[in-house]
Amino acid sequence: MRELSASLLEWYDHNARAMPWRTSPADRKAGVLPDPYAVWLSEVMLQQTTVAAVRDYHRKFMALWPTVMDLAAAEDAAVMAAWAGLGYYARARNLLKCARVVVTEHGGVFPDDYDALLGLPGIGPYTAAAISAIAFDQPATVVDGNVERVMARLHDIHKPLPGAKAELTACAKDLTPMQRPGDYAQAVMDLGATICTPRNPACGICPWRDSCDGRKAGSAPDLPKKTPK
Ligand code: ADE
Repeated sequence: MRELSASLLEWYDHNARAMPWRTSPADRKAGVLPDPYAVWLSEVMLQQTTVAAVRDYHRKFMALWPTVMDLAAAEDAAVMAAWAGLGYYARARNLLKCARVVVTEHGGVFPDDYDALLGLPGIGPYTAAAISAIAFDQPATVVDGNVERVMARLHDIHKPLPGAKAELTACAKDLTPMQRPGDYAQAVMDLGATICTPRNPACGICPWRDSCDGRKAGSAPDLPKKTPK
């Protein structure tokens, strides 16, 4: 277990995708954590939108409203206009609501506690786990579609989704390290997005190639299975 997280972190140190809300490799090495406001903003934007589309919107929001205080004080119409094109507008309304609650009830400081985060508007279990891990380096387990695919392949799990969700989440939890859990969470997502891709996974260059049961069995490209709709 420990070797798996260690080899993935080593891979991440050299292969992390640069994103506007991530710290630099040098800062990561020095243990500098990212701005919780920037992380929260990225995770809300990424809820239903791809990383490629989110980059520019994230930059724009951070330029217009550099802190949660600035965003909380913004005109509703200005925020909705800046969000235009990202879709799912309930997210933008909750974004503003959440910023205002953080200011009025938490003194403008994002809470570092999973349950407190979960109580904020627009923050569900996935987003609360992502913020706890990425912004506060807490060992929360972050499971999105990328992570489910990586776990199904690593352990050669053929049980179909969505039924296999609990089992895949348990696998992800088992692997989450106490050291650098925030980097680890992002590393699994990057692995799924760049190497352990839905089609034609690049198993030959995967840091987990020698431990992957799906690769050994030849079934990796066909996982995860999905129950037909
Ligand atoms: N998808 C959602 N959040 C992400 C993150 N922090 N890194 C990579 N992919 C993500």
